[in-house]
Amino acid sequence: MSLARGASAQKTQEILIRGHRVKALEPSQLDALELAKGLRSHLLIEWDTPINSRGDRFGFNNDYIAWVERGPHDAILWVNHEYPDPLSLHGSDYDHPELRTRAQIEIERKAVGGTLLRIRRAASGKPWNFVYDDPLNRRIDATTPIPFAWPEKIAGAHTATGTLGNCAGGKTPWGTVLSCEENYPDVIPDKGKKSLYGWEHHLDLPSEHYGWVVEINPLTGAAKKLVALGRFFHEGATYARAKNGRAVIYMGDDRTDQCVYKFISDRSDSLERGTLYVANLSSGRWIPLKRETHPELKKRFATETDVLIHAREAGLLAGGTTLDRPEDIEIDPVTGAVIIACTNNKDQGRPHGSLLRIDEAKGDAGALEFTSSVWIAGGLESGLTCPDNLAFDRHGALWVTSDIPGSASGKAAYTAFGNNSMFYVPLKGADAGKAFRVANAPIEAELTGPCFSPDGKTLALSVQHPGEESDVGKELHSHWPRGGQEMPRPSVVMIEGEWLG
Ligand code: FEO
Ligand code: CA
Ligand code: CA
Ligand code: CA
Repeated sequence: MSLARGASAQKTQEILIRGHRVKALEPSQLDALELAKGLRSHLLIEWDTPINSRGDRFGFNNDYIAWVERGPHDAILWVNHEYPDPLSLHGSDYDHPELRTRAQIEIERKAVGGTLLRIRRAASGKPWNFVYDDPLNRRIDATTPIPFAWPEKIAGAHTATGTLGNCAGGKTPWGTVLSCEENYPDVIPDKGKKSLYGWEHHLDLPSEHYGWVVEINPLTGAAKKLVALGRFFHEGATYARAKNGRAVIYMGDDRTDQCVYKFISDRSDSLERGTLYVANLSSGRWIPLKRETHPELKKRFATETDVLIHAREAGLLAGGTTLDRPEDIEIDPVTGAVIIACTNNKDQGRPHGSLLRIDEAKGDAGALEFTSSVWIAGGLESGLTCPDNLAFDRHGALWVTSDIPGSASGKAAYTAFGNNSMFYVPLKGADAGKAFRVANAPIEAELTGPCFSPDGKTLALSVQHPGEESDVGKELHSHWPRGGQEMPRPSVVMIEGEWLG
């Protein structure tokens, strides 16, 4: 089914969801987390909240959330902390990163990475709360030693210092969480280059140690960097099972005109060895990034490890199709289609992006051939703009969060869209493919990491970077969630309501 034509969300502003008449929200410019009628939220945790008596605190700019079930009223959340904000963390701006002190950088290093957080509720229908000082609560940050799951050294070492740029992620059926390192050069630049944060003036860390997928055991906090999955601006890592049982991971390289990749593991329960492929949409083929069998790769790279370290360059050399910032990927639970959020491409005249669909040959995630099509085009017609994170609910409807470029919010092509938001997209019935706005973010915030509880009744959601365009010494643009004159605080909220679950 192609939903690209005939979608006209803005004309139908009301929808029937399992017997409930739900009215779509209007675009908003308010400094509030607005939810469609029938939904309510409560704040689970804010940036800088102590999570244990060892001095660990909840990090900054929460993004991807993984829900690891322990029981009907008990779970562990993994939450990514994508990037630091100098103003919030130590009152600086982005000018003159070379003047940063070591102490300021240490604050930033502790604010990124991820958090493991025990959550519980008293009973069904009662609110989820985090458990302070639970033994499972812990931080993994930019100072935590993390080994490479690879026999050869990476830039001279078997272990990296920390993780950063943790954007979206995924889960495996063997109980681990995948956390993806995205915009690492903002923090750790290539040799001779400058970062946005100035860490390179105090720390000697090779950029080759970042830009990987990190696998975390939520029970022990043990982490490793999965070299076999390649190095680029990893957005997310979405598991699927091949028909022969092998583990498959779909991944987008979130940069304008970059590619989509998949990794087919040699095994069903490990991601340490296997083959990385890049998608060529013209031929409908997954092209293996194998140095031995590809003359161009053999000419350019000395070893297979080199290919993986420079997977972006290898992917383009091998014929990967460039896309409009491929971000989150989810598998449609009904059709098995691979749905890819392509955020936007201003230069190509696609400021609203699209949802791209890949149908693997014979519905097999392990296939090396596929067909692809634009599934839902962003724009006024569909009501969707700049899709970033995706989540399917238990009824097969798709939830999409938007990532309108911060400085362009409310301007030009985005004038009609207001603050960033979350859309509900039914995939069957008369409204199939239409985007209904069910949440509006506070000013300059992005809603990220939507994650349903296993019973589908709770949606954990990150509210990232409220007020991110604020300037030092001037009035703050957002005071969410505390209000008044308070500093804005990225936070995770729990959403429940009569038509969820
Ligand atoms: Fe961190 Fe691609 O969004
Ligand atoms: Ca993202
Ligand atoms: Ca997702
Ligand atoms: Ca994004």
